[in-house]
Amino acid sequence: MTDQTLTVRDNRTGEEYELEITDGTVRASDLGKIGKTEDEPGIAVYDPGFTNTASTRSSITYIDGDKGILEYRGYPIEQLAESSTFLEVAYLLIHGFVHENLKSLMQGFRYDAHPMGMLLSSVGALSTFYPEARAITDEEVRHDQVVRLIAKMPTLGAWAFRHAQGKPYVYPDNDLSYTENFLSMLFKMSEQKYDPDPRLSKALEVLFILHADHEQNCSTNAVRSVGSSDVDPYSAVSAGIAALYGPLHGGANEAVLRMLKRIGSKDNIPSFIEGVKKGEERLMGFGHRVYKNYDPRAKIIKKAVDDVFEVTGVNPLLEIAQELERIALEDEYFVQRKLYPNVDFYSGLIYEALQFPPEMFTVLFAIPRTAGWLAQWIELVDDKEQKIARPKQIYTGARTLDFVPAEQRWA
Ligand code: SDX
Repeated sequence: MTDQTLTVRDNRTGEEYELEITDGTVRASDLGKIGKTEDEPGIAVYDPGFTNTASTRSSITYIDGDKGILEYRGYPIEQLAESSTFLEVAYLLIHGFVHENLKSLMQGFRYDAHPMGMLLSSVGALSTFYPEARAITDEEVRHDQVVRLIAKMPTLGAWAFRHAQGKPYVYPDNDLSYTENFLSMLFKMSEQKYDPDPRLSKALEVLFILHADHEQNCSTNAVRSVGSSDVDPYSAVSAGIAALYGPLHGGANEAVLRMLKRIGSKDNIPSFIEGVKKGEERLMGFGHRVYKNYDPRAKIIKKAVDDVFEVTGVNPLLEIAQELERIALEDEYFVQRKLYPNVDFYSGLIYEALQFPPEMFTVLFAIPRTAGWLAQWIELVDDKEQKIARPKQIYTGARTLDFVPAEQRWA
């Protein structure tokens, strides 16, 4: 075994440093020893967007971006999507009624409030209903909050959906499975008992499993960063929801559908692609920081599309999406940048076929991802190596200026 170290020579001083290599990384703290003096800080790592920086050790989710591999606790996503259920996967990742006052809070939003804004506010508000959740190292208290939040997310998501339609809220029906219950709270009307189509609840199980976790993505990083201040899990997860809301992250599924509608027909695809290549906009649902190959989740979702369309009829936007994918996968611009369809490219077509408006799509991402966020949060709280997140910066501003009183500034 070769010596697992780096020898770094600081040419400013001629000094050499031996840096230990562990798990393919060197510690930033070891780099910090290079060039450190009384007056000078040592070397730091400058890595906007953490493109090449590990922020934690984790045993929850494994991704191989070049081979398009995704595993939860070592189980391939393909097998889980085929044979497991979302709650079983949530339990695997990690091993609930909503308070009536929260209902009043939700009713206070405008009729056209974006459901992600309602969701992130309501989840943050949950921290005020369960102050005991601040005991983040008490395993029993922690377990109760985790179960509570995973149970409440579908209710909050469904109520945000019903709020936009001015429909009464439907309460959970414990005779139904997690996804059947979610469909009931979304779509039940005057019937005594909602009878979900098993093909649709199965499709939602698969989508929820695929969205449950994804290593150190933007929203998980937000949960970990906010969680590193020892705040309660509701507040940390509301930070994750806020990050997921963005169109470059979870908001991409909504953006994909709007993009497909804007393209409108296959004939418009070539001019749209030209616009993308000119940098006028992005091909939403394509590209990924880690996957430089086809996102394995997109492959599975593409199959689930057919199952759902058996029930709902084919979404006419499907053929625009398929033609867009075909052209992009042949075009040098996308090939050279290793841009492939990601999890968001096809999911929106299913959600629209299930009668969800585009603004609900990212809520459908946040509900299952709550299991992953909470699993990552627990791992963070239990990780003795973790500290409060406080990155350094490269200062580019002015220094030691003398204050000039206002009356002299424009003299
Ligand atoms: C999710 O991290 C995760 O795991 C996230 C996620 C999860 O499960 O949590 O997988 C969920 O967020 C999936 C991604 C959804 N977002 C989108 O589909 C939005 C469109 N895609 C992008 O904006 C972009 O691809 C990102 C944000 C996903 C990744 O961006 P990177 O890794 O920071 O790459 P980059 O912006 O540096 O782009 C590299 C090059 C650039 O071109 P050049 O400057 O080299 O000329 O690729 C180009 C970019 O312009 N590029 C795109 C593009 N994505 C990247 N060009 C056109 N269309 C795109 N979609």
